[in-house]
Amino acid sequence: MWLLLLILLFGVLAFLLKSYLQHKVSLSGAHVMITGGSSGIGKAVAVDAVFRGASVTLLARNEERLEAAQEELLRFVREPDKQKIQIFSVDVTKNYNAIEDAVNMAQEKAGPIFMLVNCAGTSVSYRFEETPLEDFQVSSVSVVNYNNKIKWFQVCVNFRLYQK
Ligand SMILES: NC(=O)c1ccc[n+]([C@@H]2O[C@H](COP(=O)([O-])OP(=O)(O)OC[C@H]3O[C@@H](n4cnc5c(N)ncnc54)[C@H](OP(=O)(O)O)[C@@H]3O)[C@@H](O)[C@H]2O)c1
Repeated sequence: MWLLLLILLFGVLAFLLKSYLQHKVSLSGAHVMITGGSSGIGKAVAVDAVFRGASVTLLARNEERLEAAQEELLRFVREPDKQKIQIFSVDVTKNYNAIEDAVNMAQEKAGPIFMLVNCAGTSVSYRFEETPLEDFQVSSVSVVNYNNKIKWFQVCVNFRLYQK
């Protein structure tokens, strides 16, 4: 009898804890934008955001990989009427107007951006002494990994200021 009561008590506590955590981390109704969302870390974050109820916008260059990622994300959608999965082919190092256009178009469909996840990036793997000099220069890896993040912060700060 006591054992049964104890099991029941644990069951109720586990249920309450699960509901509390689910409520706490829900992204229902939120719009999450992810640069570099078509693969790797960005795509993993996208899956999690969709699973938590968010609308998700992905940005990367390769359209085929973007479409494949979009298809994958659609499988995790819980509220089809509410959750939008959008993709934009944008090179975040090149045409900064295209970044602003993508932000505007994405927000028209999915509402104001709640969270920006900046995963667009690239890396090279060589031994230090064998790394080509051009890979250290501002024109390649660092442009993607650094400059684009600055631009994105500007876009978001401007957007926040504009909202107020
Ligand atoms: N994985 C790790 O363990 C690790 C650890 C520390 C840091 N990082 C850094 O975290 C970032 C993401 O890593 P990851 O492993 O997720 O890499 P990944 O799988 O290669 O994904 C990179 C993403 O960025 C996009 N991208 C690259 N250049 C872009 C550009 N110019 N414009 C727009 N999108 C661009 C790629 O799509 P497209 O090529 O189609 O554009 C892809 O969606 C990288 O900067 C990496 O160096 C990774």
